Amino acid sequence: MSAPVSLAVLVLAAGKGTRMKSESPKVLMPLLEEPLLSYPLRTLCGLGMDQVGVVVGHGGEQVVTYLNRSWPSARTIWQEEQKGTGHAVSVCRDWWRFFDHLLVLPGDVPLLSAQALVSLAEVHLNQSAEATFLSIELDDPSGYGRVIRRGDSVRIVEHKDATDKERSVREVNSGVYLFRTEWLAEALDALSCDNVQGEYYLPDVLPLLAGKGRVVSSLWARAEDLSGANDPIQLAELGRVLRDRLLAAWMAAGVKCIDPSSVWIGPRVALAPDIYLEPHVQLWGATEVGEGSRVGSFSVLRDARVGRFVDLVGHVRIEDSTLRDGVKAGPFTYIRGDAELREEAFAGRFVEIKKSTIGPKAKVPHLSYIGDATVGEGTNIGAGTITCNYDGKDKHATSIGRECFIGSDTMLVAPLTVGDRAMTGAGSVITHDVPEGALAVARAKQRVIEGWWERKKDRKD
Ligand code: UD1
Ligand code: CA
Repeated sequence: MSAPVSLAVLVLAAGKGTRMKSESPKVLMPLLEEPLLSYPLRTLCGLGMDQVGVVVGHGGEQVVTYLNRSWPSARTIWQEEQKGTGHAVSVCRDWWRFFDHLLVLPGDVPLLSAQALVSLAEVHLNQSAEATFLSIELDDPSGYGRVIRRGDSVRIVEHKDATDKERSVREVNSGVYLFRTEWLAEALDALSCDNVQGEYYLPDVLPLLAGKGRVVSSLWARAEDLSGANDPIQLAELGRVLRDRLLAAWMAAGVKCIDPSSVWIGPRVALAPDIYLEPHVQLWGATEVGEGSRVGSFSVLRDARVGRFVDLVGHVRIEDSTLRDGVKAGPFTYIRGDAELREEAFAGRFVEIKKSTIGPKAKVPHLSYIGDATVGEGTNIGAGTITCNYDGKDKHATSIGRECFIGSDTMLVAPLTVGDRAMTGAGSVITHDVPEGALAVARAKQRVIEGWWERKKDRKD
């Protein structure tokens, strides 16, 4: 039995991406709210490729911060000066030379599929190639490196260096390669930067390797899988393609959706098959939606954990919060800041809930702000109730027990504790704790002045 082959992956991400006209490095540009760079990394991760290096340069600190947070196992390699793709591969040879093969890909081709990489590896290994690259055919190949074949020989000429005849070739280099590492360093050392851009071009190693009598191979990939994102228009177009792909996959899995063209689902979202998404819904981040739930129109969920049989009526915004089974919310409800709505709780019209727990079967039906609070099981919060949690300097907590009845328009001035089964009178400003089972009324007594209209009527003014 032969020893298993080892593989390192290098993602090239040091370039500036000038056409994005952004302060952020191109590989952090958002596509369906996730950085471009996350896409190849997720694909590689799915293939079990865990030796991944990322070459950083322009905006490198931001890229490193992102990688440390989201992909801590990825290795970052600094390319202080961007002297070309060949130079980028060369600077980290002390890392990749201990592996048998090196996969190189650009950081800005988010649609690259796992299947394309598997096919690349198969061809490379079956042909015992020294180098294998993915090529694509484009109607408009301008800007790309053209694949120039003569007999068995192949070389790549960059657009800027190409003659008119070479520019008419529509087969282009995708920028995705698999190399055997044995001779790669030597070939990189032999690169010259004698070209229009004065750069060390990685594709120039191909004829150098072939010249040593090694096999250089290629295979076709689908052009749309290798579309790059060079400007905001291309970025939006990639977003649309990716959105359609994700929606199609979710609907094939059983998700119901009457207008997929208006629904947006990010790549990290996890959905149960039997859910219903109304038109104009957006699901982002690590949002999860459980079986039998409905997400109503114009709802935007970001890092929301939504349980089973949850009914989001519409216009519900949820950020970083949890809705347990059977919760009902909306319309016009904002739930955020690690809030939790327990089983069958209800948050209704024009209600904001921040960093609070709403107990099972508790209700906040209308026009309330509940912040830094806990609300016990079965409690009813009357319309217009506000937890006054902020004194201008610090936030304070409110604890409301179970089966309470908070009268409409109650101001609960925190810090405050309301015991189980307590009540407050409508319009009260509650500044002191309310014991279990008590009624607290804190409002001006009503005065009635008889005959007021008669008295006003005769006044001359
Ligand atoms: C490159 C290929 C070209 C191919 C095209 C496909 C070269 C010389 N040309 O051209 O044949 O058709 O990709 O998209 O390789 N990068 C670095 N360090 C550098 C330079 C670039 O990390 O010093 C990174 C960039 O961030 C980018 C990738 O390498 O992710 C490709 O670089 P780019 O300058 O975009 O090459 P292209 O001109 O597109
Ligand atoms: Ca490019």
